[in-house]
Amino acid sequence: MVKKNTCVFISGRGSNLKNLISYSRDNSFPIKVSLVICNNKKANGISYAKINKIPYVLVNTKRPNYENKILLNLKRHKITFICLAGYMKIISEKLIKSFKGDIINIHPSLLPKYKGLNTFSRVLKNKEKKTGCTVHFVNEKLDSGSTILKKMIFINETDDEVILRQKTQKLEHRAFPEAIIKIFRKY
Ligand code: GRF
Repeated sequence: MVKKNTCVFISGRGSNLKNLISYSRDNSFPIKVSLVICNNKKANGISYAKINKIPYVLVNTKRPNYENKILLNLKRHKITFICLAGYMKIISEKLIKSFKGDIINIHPSLLPKYKGLNTFSRVLKNKEKKTGCTVHFVNEKLDSGSTILKKMIFINETDDEVILRQKTQKLEHRAFPEAIIKIFRKY
């Protein structure tokens, strides 16, 4: 099987990156993580690129043309698919257009509820009974592209933000690979 040459964008912990790298060791998993782009030089996630000898590029989003650097590297590494995994920066229309339909994101809520940041505190404040995560295609509007899959968990009365984050991340580590398999599954 020819794997999709994939770039994962991160900004922080990188647990989803770590998980995707480990899945992509399986020959039948549809993607290969060939490049990591990170906008935070202190991000723990970079260590997973280093350990696994995956090329990574640090970008400084304060620089006016940092997206050109991204586009150049995507081209250089022949990237055909992008996974946003905790990338805390909105990507430009230019980048979205150049990879139309080939960028996906994972978000820690049941979209369309709780788009944007601080999902766990908002979910708890609103006394929701359930929450979860969503993997979706990326379009020009924040957290609004079409859904590939969602996974749900129930919230216990004793759950706080820390517990909710842990439970959601566990769910994400199943949802992201499953969504990727779903996209590339051939009938
Ligand atoms: C995840 O919760 C994801 O849903 C959100 O950012 C977080 C990234 O976590 N977009 P990690 O860096 O993959 O551990």
